[in-house]
Amino acid sequence: MQAQEIRRKFLEFFKEKQHEIVPSAPLVVKNDPTLMFTNAGMNQFKDFFLGTKTPIYRRAADTQKCLRVSGKHNDLEEVGIDTYHHTMFEMLGNWSFGDYFKEEAIKWAWELLTEVYHLPKDRLYVTVFEGDDNDGLAADSEAANIWKKYIEEDRIILASKKDNFWEMGETGPCGPCSEIHIDLRSEEDLAKKGGKDLVNQDDPLVVEIWNLVFIQFNRMASGKLEKLPAAHIDTGMGFERLAMAIQKKKSNYDTDVFQPLIQFIAGKAGVTYGNDQKTDIAIRVISDHVRAVSFAIADGQLPSNNKAGYVIRRILRRAVRYGYTFLGFKAPFINEMVAVLTEQFADVFPEIKEQEEFISNVILNEEATFLKTLENGLSILNDLIQKNTGDKVIKGENAFELYDTFGFPYDLTALIARENGFDVDEAGFKVELEKQKTRSRNAQVSEKGDWIIVNDGDSVEFVGYEFLASEAKILRYRELKEKKGTVYQLVLDNTPFYAESGGQVGDIGYIESDGEKVSIIDTKKENDLIVHFTKKLPSNPEATFKCVVNVNKRKLTENNHSATHLLHAALKRVLGEHVQQKGSLVNEKVLRFDFSHYAKMTDEEIAEVEKIVNQKIRENISLDEKRNVPIEAAKGMGATALFGEKYGDFVRVITFDKEYSIELCGGTHVPATGKIGFLKIVSESSVAAGVRRIEAVTADEAEALVNANEQVLKQLDEILKNPKDLNKAVSSLLDERNQMQKELEKFRQKEINQLKDTLVQKGEDISGITAIISKVSLPNADALRKLSFDLKNKVNSLFMVIAAEIEGKPQIAVMLSEDVIENKGLDAVKIIRELAREIKGGGGGQPFYATAGGKDVSGLDNVVAKAKDFLN
Ligand code: SER
Repeated sequence: MQAQEIRRKFLEFFKEKQHEIVPSAPLVVKNDPTLMFTNAGMNQFKDFFLGTKTPIYRRAADTQKCLRVSGKHNDLEEVGIDTYHHTMFEMLGNWSFGDYFKEEAIKWAWELLTEVYHLPKDRLYVTVFEGDDNDGLAADSEAANIWKKYIEEDRIILASKKDNFWEMGETGPCGPCSEIHIDLRSEEDLAKKGGKDLVNQDDPLVVEIWNLVFIQFNRMASGKLEKLPAAHIDTGMGFERLAMAIQKKKSNYDTDVFQPLIQFIAGKAGVTYGNDQKTDIAIRVISDHVRAVSFAIADGQLPSNNKAGYVIRRILRRAVRYGYTFLGFKAPFINEMVAVLTEQFADVFPEIKEQEEFISNVILNEEATFLKTLENGLSILNDLIQKNTGDKVIKGENAFELYDTFGFPYDLTALIARENGFDVDEAGFKVELEKQKTRSRNAQVSEKGDWIIVNDGDSVEFVGYEFLASEAKILRYRELKEKKGTVYQLVLDNTPFYAESGGQVGDIGYIESDGEKVSIIDTKKENDLIVHFTKKLPSNPEATFKCVVNVNKRKLTENNHSATHLLHAALKRVLGEHVQQKGSLVNEKVLRFDFSHYAKMTDEEIAEVEKIVNQKIRENISLDEKRNVPIEAAKGMGATALFGEKYGDFVRVITFDKEYSIELCGGTHVPATGKIGFLKIVSESSVAAGVRRIEAVTADEAEALVNANEQVLKQLDEILKNPKDLNKAVSSLLDERNQMQKELEKFRQKEINQLKDTLVQKGEDISGITAIISKVSLPNADALRKLSFDLKNKVNSLFMVIAAEIEGKPQIAVMLSEDVIENKGLDAVKIIRELAREIKGGGGGQPFYATAGGKDVSGLDNVVAKAKDFLN
């Protein structure tokens, strides 16, 4: 059974069992400070489990893109070394939101594995939670009893909290789980040792394939478990491992999920996969990492220097490094593999195909840059090796610099060192590493307190589309001890404050009760909570507050947000439909819009975009805002959705002329485009490979910009004494200047010619060599050079030392003719080095001509006095 069919059968199976087939959430998580990447299928359903949101369906199934490279679930270092962990993998899952529970979950899992996929029953084992005293939980005998209907009792294994109590992170929904494991070893190995003893023992061929989680609790920040209002099912099956089991392979990488990638790399490197442990690991690493990186980029996460972007950059660099070290790839190649992914995933994850060129461009650029860094690091390392003729040990601090600045992991430095008969001071390296960790720990937010509940409820209503003020109660608050001081976070039961999202900054303003005003300095989202930041806790948190948004900032920000929509549509018109939003920032001063496009925009294109936007502003198009539109209907309207954005089942659609701009958007907007006043593009630049950035201003800021420009023109006008035509006046000024420059050159040339003649006349014959040694004053360095070469052309056997004063600074030139170099064994460079000391300077050049500059003009006389010694 091919991988595609395995995936299809899973979804079909649960569809028949009345499950809604839902799309995978994006790989990159937004608005959750505890999670960077989706690490489990259940992430997107967290609120359904907690009961803070109600789903429209009670059963769902999907294949979810997951990435386990940071936080609680991190497999990065295993990947490639073993044969069954991945950075990015697909998790097949089925869910019950307070609907069916253990009975059905177990029954269907068994049915699918044994009757649809025909996995051998005598190779399967199941684990069940054994209970935990600390959490006050008994063993899950209910699950064990259900399993007994399907599988022999001695294949049911009790397992501890570590393996059989699933938690998403430090806090959040959790519960006991039951895992299904399979033994894929040969008959001989099975005869030697039963599979039961190998379950949960990290045997590559006795592996977990499916985890059935019985979600019943919420883990609080205090560590306590709180019972949830309803019980849920959350299952997750590793798609790649399932493929290994069904296709009877010994490694995930031997399945058709990975083989096209593996064969591509092996072919390109000219090696055979399966022949050599080292090259095999490298091939696996690359085939795994290209998937993680491509999917992350497709979902909007570009490699960068911080946070999620840095994680992606590090994964890509790990792949480049393995390719470089073990497969001899000295030029970019990973970008070429995007085409393989496109083909593999066209029907399930079309985001790769739709952005193929963009993704491979971004990867190509990253690869090229990192390869250069690697080369630089290598040359530094070679230098260290060559210079060290003593202890033959690379110092810890050098190894650390290579690691920190050049991305050289310790092993690579050690490997190259060993190849050259060197050791590395590993202990010293670790000391440096520890120092750095301490530095970054100290730079981080120090402490976050637990939420203090003031009023019941989690659901926050945003009323800020209609109102800029409202009355509200505090639901909860917490203290945040930051380096800069203490900040409090407040959650209100309803709020007019817009929380930063979709590029639009959060509102500021104040809340007031009993004459006490507390400033709100920012508003952000944390999952579905709207969190208000303040430096002061209201003295009575239980009071009712009047909440007031800063109207001026909000209105100016709205101008920029609506203008961003108009700009986005104009860019698509002028540059083409390939333009995709890649980032956006909207605040009260400026709008910044990043989008995919390959070339620098021409002045004409920029002007055209600006013109279209301003036309749309003048048309004063009314805002058409529709809330709670079913996502499919919105897409049917032709609304622009962004890759990597997580949309709910119902979305908000913002339209400014349905023939012009329709976007899915949660931001706040002007009632009609005329409010924007007008838009002025300030700059167009590049931010990454294939990503351009436009910065623009609107309304007051645009007016200020135009006024400032006009002011410059006015001042110029005044300086130039109000000419009729400013352009002409400046041009003719430049013409005149050029003309005078030419005249000046002529005079200078004449002067130099005269000087040359004088110097020749004064030249002293010393046994057939003409020695011209003199102190002169010259207008610039160019004149000195010219004079030297003129003298060389004029005089046959020349020994020339000119000590020149140029605009108050000393300069020396030495010129020797060929015969003087040969017969006298002289070298202009050596002479200049000696003479330069007299003027406190330094210089260099070639054996026949050298120059030096210095600081001490008074030394020029000594230069002249010393020069003749060289000839003597
Ligand atoms: N949440 C569980 C896991 O990730 C099952 O989906 O393993």
